[in-house]
Amino acid sequence: MDKPKVVLGVSGGIAAYKACELLRRLTESGHDVRVVPTAAALHFVGEATWSALSGHPAGTQVWESVHEVPHVRIGQEAQLVVVAPATADMLAKAAHGLADDLLTNTLLTARCPVVFAPAMHTEMWENPATQENVATLRRRGAVVIEPAVGRLTGVDTGKGRLPDPEEIFEVCRRVLARGTRPADLAGRHVVISAGGTREPLDPVRFLGNRSSGKQGYALARTAVARGARVTLVAANTELPDPAGADVVRVGTAVQLREAVLKAAADADAVVMAAAVADFRPARYAEGKIKKRDGEEPAPVELVRNPDVLAELSADRPRPGQVVVGFAAETDDVLANGRAKLARKGCDLLVVNEVGERKTFGAEASEAVVLAPDGSETPVPFGPKEALAETVWDLVARRFS
Ligand code: CTP
Repeated sequence: MDKPKVVLGVSGGIAAYKACELLRRLTESGHDVRVVPTAAALHFVGEATWSALSGHPAGTQVWESVHEVPHVRIGQEAQLVVVAPATADMLAKAAHGLADDLLTNTLLTARCPVVFAPAMHTEMWENPATQENVATLRRRGAVVIEPAVGRLTGVDTGKGRLPDPEEIFEVCRRVLARGTRPADLAGRHVVISAGGTREPLDPVRFLGNRSSGKQGYALARTAVARGARVTLVAANTELPDPAGADVVRVGTAVQLREAVLKAAADADAVVMAAAVADFRPARYAEGKIKKRDGEEPAPVELVRNPDVLAELSADRPRPGQVVVGFAAETDDVLANGRAKLARKGCDLLVVNEVGERKTFGAEASEAVVLAPDGSETPVPFGPKEALAETVWDLVARRFS
């Protein structure tokens, strides 16, 4: 079988050196990669590196090997174009259809999915010109992954880092797996909560739960690959940040509510995969609670936490917003699920049966997705990403 053809576009930013690692991952996993750097990219990593690692020439101009018409052929033949790093200049050119070198020509001739992994200083990323260019590209179906937050060139820190190459590789793998299916969440903003809240009793103890966050992260990764702008509100997870998602870290249910409501203001969909504690200790002890000889422990008084899912469902921050809940049940799974769907008022409820080795921390799960019209979509036992894809299929259907 022919290897899938991938074009790796590299524009002129310091993060170009990280694209070498992305290239290596793509070639080692059986892809035929053609690197198309811009002239500026070659200031950071030379042509010899790109051609040695890819096994192909890595010219920047349309005037090289003209008889092969590379400015048309490279884009036409590709099954995926990924531009990493994509500078502000590259995003602007792509959004406006400029074609003054081999990479920009390739972007215009490509009929396949295109992934941009922007990297730049925070000010350039936040500039309205860049934001409008990104919105334009997303509206046209490109997958533009959000930059990561962290150390930038020089002494700056902020949003604008190129995500880790293995995370960009994962996005590429998922986009390629979708084949010719369009990025049906392109131009949409989705908010996902993941993990489990911790409600502190004192500086060292908390009431928590066994949620690992894997299902919420799977939802975030699959939504990125389907073109969405993703905000992931992560409660106490230790998983690596998924490339392309804005990750907001929270601890308690009250913090989670604040972060979800803030992000939901302009969201097209909110998926509440987090296990949110229903109760929290009524009092927080500033100092560690000590045991005393001969004394029985004091009972822990609890108060209710806000129900974020019910609140969002009743009072949608944006008209037409799709709200999805999760339920983990041990008995009467479907009956309890139906009752919970009605009580919470959401559009879809994903019901998992929990038990030993099922759901919490596991790599796979089995579920039924319930809707208010009485429909049930069973999702057979399988990877959490498969369940995530089904959730997005159902959400995308509601958008259209
Ligand atoms: N949820 C929430 N806020 C809470 C509790 C739960 O937003 N304070 C959300 C979860 O993220 C999940 C859904 O509600 O999407 C199901 O939560 P669950 O705790 O299972 O439902 P409960 O209403 O608490 O029902 P019960 O405890 O009776 O099972």
